[in-house]
Amino acid sequence: MGKKILVTYGTMSGSTAEVAQAVADEIKKEGIEVDVEQVENLKDLQGYDGVILGSAVRMFHILPKTRRFLRKHKRALQEIPVAYFLVCLTMSEDKPENIEQATKFAQPMISTKEPVSLGLFGGCINHEKMTDIFSLPMKQMPEEDHRDWEMIRAWARDLVPKM
Ligand SMILES: Cc1cc2nc3c(=O)[nH]c(=O)nc-3n(C[C@H](O)[C@H](O)[C@H](O)COP(=O)(O)O)c2cc1C
Repeated sequence: MGKKILVTYGTMSGSTAEVAQAVADEIKKEGIEVDVEQVENLKDLQGYDGVILGSAVRMFHILPKTRRFLRKHKRALQEIPVAYFLVCLTMSEDKPENIEQATKFAQPMISTKEPVSLGLFGGCINHEKMTDIFSLPMKQMPEEDHRDWEMIRAWARDLVPKM
């Protein structure tokens, strides 16, 4: 039987969900079975040969629901290869200091289980999708989308032999 990979993600405004879907679509092209699911919907990780976990960043931290996923599934994650990705405005520019900062955001992930790969991707400001009260101040910022789809797909392809 072939491999089955889970792509799971924590999002507030949907941009991380779209990145998760792009990662999953790219991996599927390699003939791997892939499920895509929000972190809060997963009861267990049974049946998966690897997990790709993505999170949005808010207020210098991965989302609380991503941290809950890490706590809940910590033991199961030790048994299978894991990769992480972040979607955040810090990575709007691929500069060494931004990579350093974003890697710090990922520390709670890395300390749960050492990943085979860490993807750091630029995020979005989309006024229409930022509906929660905490997003109000961010609506002062102009709309922007820093997701580099070719970079995201290349990262996913590179992941396949590592999982
Ligand atoms: C309230 C709020 C706080 C944010 N805080 C940060 C931050 O501290 N660092 C950062 O790099 N990006 C920050 N961002 C940008 C988000 O990471 C970016 O908008 C991302 O695309 C959101 O992902 P989502 O659409 O999946 O929720 C923030 C966005 C919002 C709305």
